[in-house]
Amino acid sequence: YKKITTKSLIDMKAQGEKISMLTAYDFTMAKIVDSAGIDVILVGDSASNVMAGHETTLPITLDQMIYHASSVVRGADRALVVVDLPFGSYQSDPREALRSAIRIMKESGGHAVKLEGGKEIKDSIKKILNAGIPVMGHLGLTPQSIYKFGTYTVRAKEEQEALKLIEDAKLLEKLGCFSLVLEKIPAKLAQQIAESISIPVIGIGAGSGVDGQVLVIHDMLGMNNEFSPRFLRRYMNLYEGMTSAISQYVEDVKSKDFPNEKEQY
Ligand code: KIV
Ligand code: NA
Repeated sequence: YKKITTKSLIDMKAQGEKISMLTAYDFTMAKIVDSAGIDVILVGDSASNVMAGHETTLPITLDQMIYHASSVVRGADRALVVVDLPFGSYQSDPREALRSAIRIMKESGGHAVKLEGGKEIKDSIKKILNAGIPVMGHLGLTPQSIYKFGTYTVRAKEEQEALKLIEDAKLLEKLGCFSLVLEKIPAKLAQQIAESISIPVIGIGAGSGVDGQVLVIHDMLGMNNEFSPRFLRRYMNLYEGMTSAISQYVEDVKSKDFPNEKEQY
Protein backbone atom coordinates (compact mmCIF):
# COMPACT_ATOMS: atom_id res chain seq x y z
CA TYR A 1 0.00 0.00 0.00
CA LYS A 2 1.60 3.26 -1.16
CA LYS A 3 -0.93 5.45 0.53
CA ILE A 4 -3.37 4.10 3.10
CA THR A 5 -7.05 4.76 2.52
CA THR A 6 -10.20 3.59 4.27
CA LYS A 7 -10.45 1.02 1.46
CA SER A 8 -6.90 -0.28 2.19
CA LEU A 9 -7.92 -1.04 5.77
CA ILE A 10 -10.98 -3.00 4.68
CA ASP A 11 -8.79 -4.92 2.20
CA MET A 12 -6.23 -5.63 4.94
CA LYS A 13 -8.90 -7.20 7.09
CA ALA A 14 -10.17 -9.30 4.18
CA GLN A 15 -6.60 -10.51 3.59
CA GLY A 16 -5.87 -11.14 7.24
CA GLU A 17 -3.18 -8.44 7.46
CA LYS A 18 -3.19 -6.74 10.87
CA ILE A 19 -3.54 -2.95 10.98
CA SER A 20 -1.04 -0.83 12.95
CA MET A 21 -2.21 2.43 14.47
CA LEU A 22 -0.61 4.95 16.85
CA THR A 23 -1.53 8.41 18.03
CA ALA A 24 0.37 11.59 17.17
CA TYR A 25 -0.44 15.19 17.97
CA ASP A 26 2.27 17.22 16.25
CA PHE A 27 4.25 17.48 13.00
CA THR A 28 7.59 16.02 14.15
CA MET A 29 6.05 12.98 15.83
CA ALA A 30 3.74 12.38 12.87
CA LYS A 31 6.72 12.45 10.50
CA ILE A 32 8.57 9.85 12.57
CA VAL A 33 5.53 7.61 13.01
CA ASP A 34 4.69 7.85 9.31
CA SER A 35 8.22 7.08 8.09
CA ALA A 36 8.35 4.07 10.40
CA GLY A 37 5.51 2.59 8.37
CA ILE A 38 2.40 2.97 10.50
CA ASP A 39 -0.91 2.42 8.71
CA VAL A 40 -3.13 4.80 10.65
CA ILE A 41 -2.26 7.89 12.70
CA LEU A 42 -4.92 8.84 15.20
CA VAL A 43 -5.06 12.44 16.34
CA GLY A 44 -6.67 11.31 19.57
CA ASP A 45 -8.40 13.51 22.08
CA SER A 46 -5.90 11.83 24.42
CA ALA A 47 -4.01 15.02 23.49
CA SER A 48 -6.06 16.45 26.34
CA ASN A 49 -4.10 14.18 28.71
CA VAL A 50 -0.64 13.83 27.21
CA MET A 51 -0.25 17.21 25.51
CA ALA A 52 -2.27 19.50 27.77
CA GLY A 53 -1.99 17.70 31.11
CA HIS A 54 -5.70 17.40 31.81
CA GLU A 55 -7.03 14.57 33.97
CA THR A 56 -9.57 13.51 31.32
CA THR A 57 -10.25 13.94 27.60
CA LEU A 58 -13.27 16.16 28.25
CA PRO A 59 -11.69 19.64 28.25
CA ILE A 60 -10.03 19.60 24.81
CA THR A 61 -11.82 21.83 22.28
CA LEU A 62 -12.60 21.43 18.60
CA ASP A 63 -10.20 24.29 17.78
CA GLN A 64 -7.42 22.57 19.71
CA MET A 65 -8.10 19.25 17.94
CA ILE A 66 -7.93 21.07 14.59
CA TYR A 67 -4.57 22.60 15.55
CA HIS A 68 -3.14 19.17 16.46
CA ALA A 69 -4.65 17.52 13.39
CA SER A 70 -3.38 20.08 10.90
CA SER A 71 0.15 19.68 12.32
CA VAL A 72 -0.09 15.89 12.00
CA VAL A 73 -1.43 16.05 8.44
CA ARG A 74 1.64 18.09 7.40
CA GLY A 75 3.88 15.32 8.76
CA ALA A 76 2.05 12.33 7.30
CA ASP A 77 2.81 11.09 3.80
CA ARG A 78 1.49 7.54 3.71
CA ALA A 79 -0.66 6.96 6.78
CA LEU A 80 -4.39 7.52 6.99
CA VAL A 81 -5.01 10.36 9.46
CA VAL A 82 -8.08 9.90 11.68
CA VAL A 83 -9.16 12.74 13.98
CA ASP A 84 -11.22 12.43 17.16
CA LEU A 85 -14.31 14.59 17.47
CA PRO A 86 -13.90 16.00 20.99
CA PHE A 87 -16.44 15.83 23.79
CA GLY A 88 -19.25 18.33 23.28
CA SER A 89 -18.73 18.74 19.53
CA TYR A 90 -21.19 16.04 18.40
CA GLN A 91 -23.42 14.77 21.21
CA SER A 92 -26.11 17.45 21.24
CA ASP A 93 -27.53 17.02 17.74
CA PRO A 94 -26.66 15.60 14.31
CA ARG A 95 -26.36 19.00 12.64
CA GLU A 96 -23.78 20.15 15.14
CA ALA A 97 -21.97 16.82 14.73
CA LEU A 98 -21.83 17.33 10.96
CA ARG A 99 -20.65 20.92 11.38
CA SER A 100 -17.84 19.76 13.67
CA ALA A 101 -16.80 16.96 11.31
CA ILE A 102 -16.78 19.37 8.36
CA ARG A 103 -14.58 21.81 10.29
CA ILE A 104 -12.09 19.02 11.00
CA MET A 105 -11.98 17.90 7.36
CA LYS A 106 -11.74 21.42 5.94
CA GLU A 107 -9.46 23.08 8.45
CA SER A 108 -7.06 20.23 9.26
CA GLY A 109 -6.98 18.15 6.08
CA GLY A 110 -7.54 14.96 8.09
CA HIS A 111 -8.94 11.96 6.25
CA ALA A 112 -11.61 10.66 8.63
CA VAL A 113 -13.21 11.32 12.02
CA LYS A 114 -13.75 9.12 15.06
CA LEU A 115 -16.73 9.39 17.43
CA GLU A 116 -17.42 7.55 20.69
CA GLY A 117 -20.68 5.65 21.02
CA GLY A 118 -23.21 3.45 19.26
CA LYS A 119 -26.97 3.69 19.00
CA GLU A 120 -27.12 6.98 20.93
CA ILE A 121 -25.27 8.82 18.17
CA LYS A 122 -26.48 6.92 15.13
CA ASP A 123 -28.21 9.92 13.53
CA SER A 124 -25.03 11.95 13.83
CA ILE A 125 -22.95 9.19 12.29
CA LYS A 126 -25.44 8.90 9.42
CA LYS A 127 -25.37 12.62 8.77
CA ILE A 128 -21.55 12.74 8.73
CA LEU A 129 -21.35 9.71 6.44
CA ASN A 130 -23.96 11.24 4.12
CA ALA A 131 -21.66 14.22 3.69
CA GLY A 132 -18.95 11.87 2.43
CA ILE A 133 -16.83 11.95 5.57
CA PRO A 134 -15.51 8.52 6.66
CA VAL A 135 -16.32 7.59 10.24
CA MET A 136 -14.43 5.32 12.63
CA GLY A 137 -16.50 4.10 15.58
CA HIS A 138 -15.28 3.69 19.16
CA LEU A 139 -16.95 1.42 21.74
CA GLY A 140 -16.11 -0.15 25.09
CA LEU A 141 -14.28 2.02 27.60
CA THR A 142 -14.99 5.29 25.84
CA PRO A 143 -13.05 7.91 27.85
CA GLN A 144 -15.46 10.78 27.12
CA SER A 145 -17.98 8.87 29.29
CA ILE A 146 -15.59 8.31 32.19
CA TYR A 147 -17.81 10.18 34.64
CA LYS A 148 -20.71 7.91 33.70
CA PHE A 149 -18.58 4.78 34.19
CA GLY A 150 -16.90 6.11 37.34
CA THR A 151 -13.95 3.75 36.82
CA TYR A 152 -11.26 2.92 34.25
CA THR A 153 -11.69 -0.85 34.69
CA VAL A 154 -12.54 -3.26 31.88
CA ARG A 155 -16.00 -2.77 30.29
CA ALA A 156 -18.59 -5.31 29.14
CA LYS A 157 -17.71 -8.06 31.59
CA GLU A 158 -21.42 -8.53 32.23
CA GLU A 159 -23.73 -10.03 29.68
CA GLN A 160 -26.07 -7.06 29.29
CA GLU A 161 -23.30 -4.62 28.45
CA ALA A 162 -21.64 -7.21 26.20
CA LEU A 163 -24.86 -7.72 24.25
CA LYS A 164 -25.28 -3.98 23.76
CA LEU A 165 -21.67 -3.75 22.57
CA ILE A 166 -22.26 -6.48 19.97
CA GLU A 167 -25.42 -4.73 18.80
CA ASP A 168 -23.65 -1.38 18.58
CA ALA A 169 -20.75 -2.86 16.60
CA LYS A 170 -23.17 -4.38 14.09
CA LEU A 171 -25.04 -1.08 13.89
CA LEU A 172 -21.84 0.85 13.16
CA GLU A 173 -21.02 -1.60 10.38
CA LYS A 174 -24.53 -1.30 8.96
CA LEU A 175 -24.45 2.51 9.06
CA GLY A 176 -21.28 2.44 6.96
CA CYS A 177 -18.42 3.14 9.36
CA PHE A 178 -15.14 1.99 7.77
CA SER A 179 -13.64 0.73 11.02
CA LEU A 180 -14.15 0.55 14.74
CA VAL A 181 -12.01 0.89 17.88
CA LEU A 182 -12.74 -1.37 20.84
CA GLU A 183 -11.17 -0.18 24.09
CA LYS A 184 -10.54 -2.23 27.22
CA ILE A 185 -12.99 -5.11 26.91
CA PRO A 186 -12.50 -8.87 27.32
CA ALA A 187 -10.39 -10.38 24.51
CA LYS A 188 -12.95 -13.09 23.83
CA LEU A 189 -15.75 -10.60 23.29
CA ALA A 190 -13.55 -8.42 21.06
CA GLN A 191 -12.63 -11.41 18.92
CA GLN A 192 -16.26 -12.45 18.65
CA ILE A 193 -17.14 -8.95 17.42
CA ALA A 194 -14.23 -8.82 14.97
CA GLU A 195 -15.30 -12.16 13.52
CA SER A 196 -18.93 -11.13 13.19
CA ILE A 197 -18.44 -7.91 11.18
CA SER A 198 -16.60 -7.19 7.93
CA ILE A 199 -15.12 -3.81 8.87
CA PRO A 200 -11.75 -3.83 10.68
CA VAL A 201 -11.82 -3.77 14.48
CA ILE A 202 -8.82 -2.05 16.05
CA GLY A 203 -8.20 -2.85 19.68
CA ILE A 204 -6.59 -1.19 22.67
CA GLY A 205 -6.66 -3.48 25.66
CA ALA A 206 -8.95 -5.75 23.63
CA GLY A 207 -6.64 -8.70 23.02
CA SER A 208 -5.12 -10.32 19.94
CA GLY A 209 -8.27 -11.57 18.22
CA VAL A 210 -9.02 -8.24 16.55
CA ASP A 211 -7.87 -6.83 13.20
CA GLY A 212 -5.38 -4.25 14.43
CA GLN A 213 -3.88 -2.52 17.44
CA VAL A 214 -3.64 1.08 18.63
CA LEU A 215 -1.60 2.65 21.43
CA VAL A 216 -0.95 6.18 22.60
CA ILE A 217 2.54 7.08 21.32
CA HIS A 218 3.72 8.61 24.61
CA ASP A 219 2.77 5.41 26.44
CA MET A 220 4.45 2.97 24.04
CA LEU A 221 7.63 5.05 23.97
CA GLY A 222 7.67 5.06 27.77
CA MET A 223 7.57 8.86 28.08
CA ASN A 224 5.01 8.46 30.76
CA ASN A 225 6.20 6.32 33.65
CA GLU A 226 3.12 6.73 35.83
CA PHE A 227 0.64 5.02 33.50
CA SER A 228 1.08 1.22 33.38
CA PRO A 229 -2.09 -0.62 32.44
CA ARG A 230 -1.74 -4.32 31.69
CA PHE A 231 -2.44 -3.83 27.97
CA LEU A 232 0.49 -1.45 27.46
CA ARG A 233 3.76 -2.69 25.97
CA ARG A 234 6.61 -0.22 26.36
CA TYR A 235 9.05 -0.24 23.43
CA MET A 236 11.42 2.29 24.96
CA ASN A 237 12.03 4.03 28.22
CA LEU A 238 12.11 7.54 26.84
CA TYR A 239 11.31 9.01 30.24
CA GLU A 240 14.65 7.79 31.55
CA GLY A 241 16.50 8.44 28.29
CA MET A 242 15.26 12.01 27.99
CA THR A 243 15.73 12.79 31.67
CA SER A 244 19.35 11.67 31.62
CA ALA A 245 20.05 13.57 28.37
CA ILE A 246 18.56 16.73 29.83
CA SER A 247 20.40 16.46 33.14
CA GLN A 248 23.63 15.90 31.19
CA TYR A 249 22.93 19.13 29.29
CA VAL A 250 22.29 21.00 32.53
CA GLU A 251 25.57 19.68 33.91
CA ASP A 252 27.48 20.61 30.74
CA VAL A 253 26.14 24.15 30.77
CA LYS A 254 26.92 24.59 34.46
CA SER A 255 30.43 23.15 34.09
CA LYS A 256 31.05 25.25 30.93
CA ASP A 257 31.69 22.05 28.96
CA PHE A 258 29.02 23.16 26.48
CA PRO A 259 29.61 24.77 24.05
CA ASN A 260 33.17 23.73 23.27
CA GLU A 261 35.60 25.27 20.73
CA LYS A 262 33.98 23.50 17.77
CA GLU A 263 30.44 24.33 18.80
CA GLN A 264 30.79 28.08 18.23
CA TYR A 265 31.54 30.63 15.48
O1 KIV B 1 -7.68 9.43 22.01
C1 KIV B 1 -7.10 8.33 21.85
O2 KIV B 1 -5.86 8.22 21.97
C2 KIV B 1 -7.92 7.18 21.47
C3 KIV B 1 -7.26 5.84 21.38
C4 KIV B 1 -6.77 5.37 22.69
C5 KIV B 1 -8.12 4.83 20.71
O3 KIV B 1 -9.08 7.34 21.24
NA1 NA C 1 -9.94 9.30 21.84
